[in-house]
Amino acid sequence: MLYVTKKIKFSAAHRLFNPTFTDARNEEIFDKCNNIMGHGHNYTLEVTVAGIPDPSTGYVIDLKKLKQILQNEIYEHVDHKHLNYDVPFLKGIIPSAENITVTFWNILSEKISPGKLYRIRLFESDSSWVEYYGDPIDIPIYELK
Ligand code: NI
Repeated sequence: MLYVTKKIKFSAAHRLFNPTFTDARNEEIFDKCNNIMGHGHNYTLEVTVAGIPDPSTGYVIDLKKLKQILQNEIYEHVDHKHLNYDVPFLKGIIPSAENITVTFWNILSEKISPGKLYRIRLFESDSSWVEYYGDPIDIPIYELK
């Protein structure tokens, strides 16, 4: 098995809050990410596809094709957007790096072929990231106030 990775970068705003918490509790838990108007991150998304190279091309998946999938399914929807309000597939989801990663997985795992989505890493900064291998996780959806 081989593992092929494509990396893309995007910038987006988010606000972390749980509408069922008090304002004080939201501030205590989410701190800077609870800023009422949101705040920005420069994200890096790494998507790894596992497979056996096609003998006729030597490719697990054509990286141009993988880039196009990431562009169409993710980048165009999230770059320079407010993740809480502008992105239909994140509506009502607390846009932590964890929840964004699971949501991206659910979208990309359907679209990636040949090969199989193996790992997603989402960097919220150079020093903080989330890594996910696709074991099923339910993310609660909250009614936005
Ligand atoms: Ni933040």
